[in-house]
Amino acid sequence: MLSLEQVKRSLEEAGQSHVLHFWPELCEEDRDSFLRELSQLDLKGLRDHCEEAAKAAASPTDILDQHLEPLPPQSIGSVRKSDQESLAAWEHEGLLQISKDRVGVLLLAGGQGTRLGVQYPKGMYNVGLPSSKTLYQIQAERIRKIQELVDVKHGSKCTVPWYIMTSEFTLAPTEKFFKDNNYFGLEPSNIMMFEQRMIPAVTFDGKVILQGKGKIAMAPDGNGGLYQALVDNMVLEDMKKRGVEYLHVYCVDNILVKMADPVFIGFCVSKGADCGAKVVEKAYPAEPVGVVCRVRGVSQVVEYSEIQPETAELRGPGGELVYSAGNICNHFFTRDFLQDVAQKFKSQLKQHVAIKKVPFVDTQGNQVKPTKPNGIKMEKFVFDVFSFSSKFVVFEVVREDEFSPLKNADGAATDSPTTARNSLLAQHCRWAVAAGAKLLDEHGNDLLPTTASVSAADKGPAQCEISPLVSYFGEGLEPLLKGKTLPTPFILSEERAKELQAP
Ligand code: UTP
Repeated sequence: MLSLEQVKRSLEEAGQSHVLHFWPELCEEDRDSFLRELSQLDLKGLRDHCEEAAKAAASPTDILDQHLEPLPPQSIGSVRKSDQESLAAWEHEGLLQISKDRVGVLLLAGGQGTRLGVQYPKGMYNVGLPSSKTLYQIQAERIRKIQELVDVKHGSKCTVPWYIMTSEFTLAPTEKFFKDNNYFGLEPSNIMMFEQRMIPAVTFDGKVILQGKGKIAMAPDGNGGLYQALVDNMVLEDMKKRGVEYLHVYCVDNILVKMADPVFIGFCVSKGADCGAKVVEKAYPAEPVGVVCRVRGVSQVVEYSEIQPETAELRGPGGELVYSAGNICNHFFTRDFLQDVAQKFKSQLKQHVAIKKVPFVDTQGNQVKPTKPNGIKMEKFVFDVFSFSSKFVVFEVVREDEFSPLKNADGAATDSPTTARNSLLAQHCRWAVAAGAKLLDEHGNDLLPTTASVSAADKGPAQCEISPLVSYFGEGLEPLLKGKTLPTPFILSEERAKELQAP
């Protein structure tokens, strides 16, 4: 730990002396923890960090239109446009890699989830499914199921290790939640949680924000903090020890995420890719999602704010959007590529500006909860490594099958607990109907196969939920559901599946 004098000098050099404004008022204990916090800061880099944040926030957004081009068709695969044979071949390849313990999954779970507005990690959120399962539980069960499918197909026991990146906000509650829930049936030694770094939030004039009299406002360094966190926590060494060559990286909030998706893994491996991104077709030109394309000949994600509407609206000869590859934070990386990023490229990652409301103490020592944005959080993005790839591919999947993120609290028009819940129920209705089941509504009336999965104005799809432990992606349901009439709410748990299987 540094001495008060050392910290004082460094803060002066960084133009941040105000940080110690309340020092004389602090008790011994608070002084001790504040000094500890300040000692851990990168004090040498603090001036640059604050100046860059203020400068970046004041700069206009880059408009990139004239440097854009779509990705070359040979680097794009698509579920919709591929024949069954190719899809089956990719799936076979993916399952084979999983059976050899070469595939791991990595969850980005360090975000603060401010838009959702709960005080606990987003993965612990229950979107109101009939089973009341949380996002973490759904994901854990998908890992268990894919392991089981591979074990049955290849006749041996495989492991898909689960790496979970957390932050100061999410590590302790996530650890406790997993322990309290007995790791959802997974082997604890195959779940590795680690923490990303935190950096100070800064005012528009480049001053570190004090959250309390003896506490700096810190925020996680963005999901692109992953690459530093991999180094800090020796994650790549762990992957190597386990023989993991391929990593599927995904966000905590997509309720439909296909973890370790064998089709996606198989596609990327077959193409010899070192880096890949799953995308969905943009719903409409102004949809606020990043688009995967090329800028000055290099693959990257371009934010919707960086493109003019005319460019976003450009259409090809078949009427399709030219820039339609919507990024869904679902990535494939080889371990070798991650090693390269960690060793050579991570310092080149771009810093993005996020303008947020950051609670602070004013100069009189009053606690203030700002009503409008007052602070800058600098973030790195996980997708900013695409430009370092030597073989980058994109795989387009069907949105209603694979993407429905939970970002906002209920009441918002999009990406809320209700939309996430409805997406999952609608998918499960489609699976049940495709397997030959007939669903009844809560009054015992027939639900038409075509309408069971559709949300009526004030009502979601039929309450049909299929446990991931029974089906990973709609497979294996016919023997259980064909010709069955099922009153809803219907939960197809493992126990129920056993009953339905019984002759
Ligand atoms: P979002 O950008 O949606 O941010 O994160 P968020 O923190 O979850 O929510 P808001 O913006 O505060 O409302 C996308 C994914 O990246 C992870 C999140 O946990 C989520 O899975 N993430 C984000 C990190 O792992 N670390 C970060 O520093 C930021």
